Amino acid sequence: MTVRRPLIAANWKMNGDRELVSAMAATLQGIDSPHEILICPPVIFLSDFPKSSQYRLGAQNVSSETAGAFTGEISADMIRAAGAEYVILGHSERRCLFAETDATVLQKAQQALRVGITPIICFGETLSERQQEKTMWVLAQHLDAVYAAHPDLLAETVIAYEPIWAIGTGLTATPEQAQQVHAFIRQHLARINPEAAAKVRILYGGSVNADNWPTLFSQPDIDGALVGGASLKPAEFAAICRMAKE
Ligand code: PGA
Repeated sequence: MTVRRPLIAANWKMNGDRELVSAMAATLQGIDSPHEILICPPVIFLSDFPKSSQYRLGAQNVSSETAGAFTGEISADMIRAAGAEYVILGHSERRCLFAETDATVLQKAQQALRVGITPIICFGETLSERQQEKTMWVLAQHLDAVYAAHPDLLAETVIAYEPIWAIGTGLTATPEQAQQVHAFIRQHLARINPEAAAKVRILYGGSVNADNWPTLFSQPDIDGALVGGASLKPAEFAAICRMAKE
């Protein structure tokens, strides 16, 4: 059986301040968790986190360009220098609000990998796509655009399944719905590379909290979480990090 080390990732989005950095660092310093823990704050706060073996740091975005006249952009080298080991790419907020496509995600993933940063690539369906029973079809299109086009990426990335209708809404996929999609993603990717598909970590995201996480995490193909709102509360995030995979 393939062992995948769970990853519990905090996506602060455009929230937080230095007080939250200190509170989160202090809370995580004392916790006992077998999982890999990742904090993705706004990049400006990356270098405020004390170095710790208890958690890793990540960014929520990176430029698709290497360097130069790109006002407002932050390069992969820069986020790496600030301490990022991961970067979230293709989040639905970036896709919907900033017009990012799978092509953009691919360019950004290449930039991240160039400097040794692991991309966490997000995919998910809208509510109307789910209601029209198009979930698997939509995911297959995105997965093929990224992974069939670049099979090597499979061994170098983490995937996050984030149903768009469950993000920040308080609605969560049921554990069965989530497991069904996670298993589909893994099977679909197995056609590209069975060994890498068995190993790739697939996180669930969408209104994860300390109450709903145990049943989601008990699903066999759910290898961790991408936590938004609940990751702004250190005690609740720590509780999620401590929960064992049954
Ligand atoms: P949420 O956000 O937990 O607040 O739904 C998750 C995400 O968007 O990554």
